[in-house]
Amino acid sequence: MNDRIASLLRPELRDLAAYVPHARPGIEVRLDANEAPENPSPRVREAIASAARSLPIERYPDPQALALKSAIAAISGARVDELLVGSGSDEVISLILTAFARAREGVPQPTLLTPTPTFVMYRVTARGHGWKVVEVPLDASWDLDVAGMKRAIEFMRPNVVFVASPNNPTGNTMSEARMAALIEASPDALVVVDEAYVDFSTASLSSWRARYSNLAILRTLSKVGLASLRVGWLEAAPQVIAALDKVRQPFNLSALSQRAAQAVISSAWQDVTAHVDAIKRERARVSDRVAATGCVVTQSDANFVWVRTPVPAELAFEGLAARGILVRSFHSVGGRLANQLRISIGSEADNSRMLEALQSCVLG
Ligand SMILES: Cc1ncc(COP(=O)(O)O)c(C=O)c1O
Repeated sequence: MNDRIASLLRPELRDLAAYVPHARPGIEVRLDANEAPENPSPRVREAIASAARSLPIERYPDPQALALKSAIAAISGARVDELLVGSGSDEVISLILTAFARAREGVPQPTLLTPTPTFVMYRVTARGHGWKVVEVPLDASWDLDVAGMKRAIEFMRPNVVFVASPNNPTGNTMSEARMAALIEASPDALVVVDEAYVDFSTASLSSWRARYSNLAILRTLSKVGLASLRVGWLEAAPQVIAALDKVRQPFNLSALSQRAAQAVISSAWQDVTAHVDAIKRERARVSDRVAATGCVVTQSDANFVWVRTPVPAELAFEGLAARGILVRSFHSVGGRLANQLRISIGSEADNSRMLEALQSCVLG
């Protein structure tokens, strides 16, 4: 690309890097991406295979994804006109930042408010869309700093607030009183509560949408064992959904993904929830065993654990990688994340291998 063409790129792209998954030779166990282990139920795979067999492959997908939305409505409680489906919740995040991007009077850029540390795609997508990003650190127990968030709302006047609960990478659910205070302090912002991990917790805020018209709930099938399908959705007021539909590509979700997700939800959902229950049991075992190595484990409501290592996280990360196990380390962020690892809950065998390796890395 010559300099004249390069000069046309958004200046924000200079600070961004494309998403490149960690690829290292010798990795045999991947516990770095919060995917679920394989679901042993043949019914889930069979539902997808039979959806694929009957697919009219020469036709475009249903641009409104009505059958899939009806299936999602049945498990989420949202009405069909309160749902938008996307190619993963990543796409939905992008659509929100495309549509709600009008800068307020006297402010040069639209502003996104989010706590930190949290899911990086809020910041990355917002920067790529030319938004200003304001990040307020979580408190010492990784819960919302409501006073800090309120000050940011008052002075920075965000268009959109994103909060992941349970949060990635810390795994905890934000306290309800603080979430209520945040939503009430944001009457002129869209508050998106990202419940990507809610299947592994007990407390969804979806019923709060009846109380707060500026609240939207983001969900995904990726964490419950269906990441390859790339199906995410937003539950929000019909006016919000209608606005987002205007910026959505008409065929944003492939027919294969629509049909497969609908088939799993309609005919094998019990097997998905049974798998989630098994992952939660493994989470309890892994949390106890990690704590027994001398690491500090945050109580997790997600499908991963947030671990403070007694040695620098980089050492533990490299030690695990040398033993064929990939996890996520936050040592490069520094500060209070310098000793933090995020370890996804995998299959029982993979978890046991990780635990044994962690023990040698931490205890020597
Ligand atoms: C909090 C959170 N939201 C959204 C996503 C993206 O999920 P999807 O696969 O639906 O794009 C992730 C994935 O790691 C996540 O951690």
